[in-house]
Amino acid sequence: MPGSTWAVVVAAGRGERLGDDRPKAFARLGELPLLAESLRRLDDCDDVDAIVVVVPPEWEEPAILLAEEIGASKVAAVVPGGETRSASVRAGLEEVPEDAAVVLVHDAARPLLPPNLVRQLLDAIGRGFDGAVPALPVADTVKRVEGDVVVETPARAELVAVQTPQAFVASVLRAAAAGEGSDCASLVEAAGGRVAVVPGDERLLKITTPADLERVRGWLDG
Ligand code: CTP
Ligand code: MG
Repeated sequence: MPGSTWAVVVAAGRGERLGDDRPKAFARLGELPLLAESLRRLDDCDDVDAIVVVVPPEWEEPAILLAEEIGASKVAAVVPGGETRSASVRAGLEEVPEDAAVVLVHDAARPLLPPNLVRQLLDAIGRGFDGAVPALPVADTVKRVEGDVVVETPARAELVAVQTPQAFVASVLRAAAAGEGSDCASLVEAAGGRVAVVPGDERLLKITTPADLERVRGWLDG
């Protein structure tokens, strides 16, 4: 569909720091695997036309069954990821049709996608930005270090911590996606793209450790 918005959900990480007996996206959050929460929320989002899910090799079948179980009918493809997050994003992008207008890239590790965030990201793209990311102010002073030596202290007021989903003009992300970075926006920035920030959400926490999983479980029940 020309002008469509596709979401790529990256769920292909091993989840080593969580230490579950299965990949992080398939660790249980409530009744269902973590992945179900963001899939359901993206599927419910009127601005999202189709979803690609990127999972660890051999987890395609469980992901397809999960999408069916929760009625996530926008899931158009489930593909195996790569060794790095950036490689997994590239695997997902291969399933996005050439005529798609916007791609949202979202970490399955951030289940609590707020209902209005996608709209705000797309509004920024509508205003002419190449990309848009949710961001929060940082509470700590952040330092750049080399080994155990401080090199620099950037002014905290100029720093934000960014989350996903991150939205991009599809052609811009495709052109920038060959590189490696801890998020997609960094690749688009490096290619000269203009990226906007919109307000993030504390509850859009990325689950990294067992303590993070407990916190998010608490928010789900609350
Ligand atoms: N991811 C991915 N492919 C990879 C690595 C990460 O799709 N090769 C995804 C993860 O599934 C996650 C997101 O990128 O949704 C953010 O990565 P991270 O939180 O680091 O998850 P893991 O890599 O799974 O965790 P860990 O680093 O603890 O192993
Ligand atoms: Mg990782």
